[in-house]
Amino acid sequence: MQQLKGLILSGGKGTRLRPITHTSAKQLVPVANKPVLFYGIEAMAAAGIEEVGIIIAPETGAEIEEAAGDGSRFGVKITYVPQEAPLGLAHAVLTAEPFLGEDPFVMYLGDNLLQGGISDLVGAFREHAPDALILLTPVADPENYGVAELAPSERGSVGRVLRLVEKPPEPVSDLALVGVYMFTAAIHDAARAIEPSARGELEITDAIQYLVDGGRRVEPHIVRGWWKDTGRLEDMLEANRLILDNLTERVDGELVESQVDGRVVVESGAYLERSTVRGPAVIGAGARLIDAYIGPYTSVGEDCVIRDAEVEHSILLAGSSVCDLDGRMESSLLGRNVTVRRSERQPRAFRFMVGDNSDISIL
Ligand code: DAU
Repeated sequence: MQQLKGLILSGGKGTRLRPITHTSAKQLVPVANKPVLFYGIEAMAAAGIEEVGIIIAPETGAEIEEAAGDGSRFGVKITYVPQEAPLGLAHAVLTAEPFLGEDPFVMYLGDNLLQGGISDLVGAFREHAPDALILLTPVADPENYGVAELAPSERGSVGRVLRLVEKPPEPVSDLALVGVYMFTAAIHDAARAIEPSARGELEITDAIQYLVDGGRRVEPHIVRGWWKDTGRLEDMLEANRLILDNLTERVDGELVESQVDGRVVVESGAYLERSTVRGPAVIGAGARLIDAYIGPYTSVGEDCVIRDAEVEHSILLAGSSVCDLDGRMESSLLGRNVTVRRSERQPRAFRFMVGDNSDISIL
């Protein structure tokens, strides 16, 4: 049997998560203190895939290479595939053709998270041997995704794929294409045959439609667990919540007159004094919490400082601090080395030093 390869798309621009992604790849933004990208690599390793290609962009490629390395820590071999510009998901596939060769492969969008991994899907792909296997899930806002129209189904089964449209203004169904696909080498010719879309990209959705039109077998699967495209702030917070919900408690850091309740991870080197952490929450290595309250669904990154403050349902990237708040910060995403504090200076007023495209809400 031909080996199954993996292709993770970690190029692109990441405009929706600015300003965080001005300075960092969106696929490296952490969920439960682990870069989103790593969940995809781990899912591939768990499904027995040994060779993984990662598409990288000129702006963020070096950072991604540095984070994921040669893949040995995940048990896979990583090959980096530079894509000169984000010209579309099908363009990314064509760019990776020398790496993929004639082998079938799993394509995984580097900003997607899929509960339960991909092992079952890889099993179905091998067993049924379709030309492509796509994942679908009902969503409330299908106009923001690729959307599938299926034939009416026989009892208990999923109808075959009739049509796939990328981000249709008037979707014909609520079934969105999830960012995990399985392909045979037939996708290369399909990607070569299509034209760029209105947004100027070679759409993978159009390439799959080309397979459907050519009478190839495209097998749809409905995702049962949760799936998240972490492109926007709300989605990041939601993904953080979903991952933290499955946390296994572990306290390796130091607690002084402090208390942790529920599913909480305190990494070694973290220090808590007169503080309470109510899980699910994760406190990164080297973080210092003094007279702090951390509420559910919070990920505190490495070396963060939280003093005289309450933080809940938030993600703090490494090196950030929240001090003397005299109130609660919630549903927030702080980038690296961000400082939020109450100052003693008069007059009593808000003072900011904020990067481009930031978003601040004050009541
Ligand atoms: O998340 C699922 C959706 O992903 C699907 O429903 C859509 O059909 C599919 O087109 C895609 O839509 P997005 O507009 O969300 O894709 P985005 O531009 O965010 O790119 C997805 C990932 O692929 C992201 O990690 C960046 C990477 N990428 C993107 C492009 C356009 C590349 O590596 N190269 C590229 O050229």
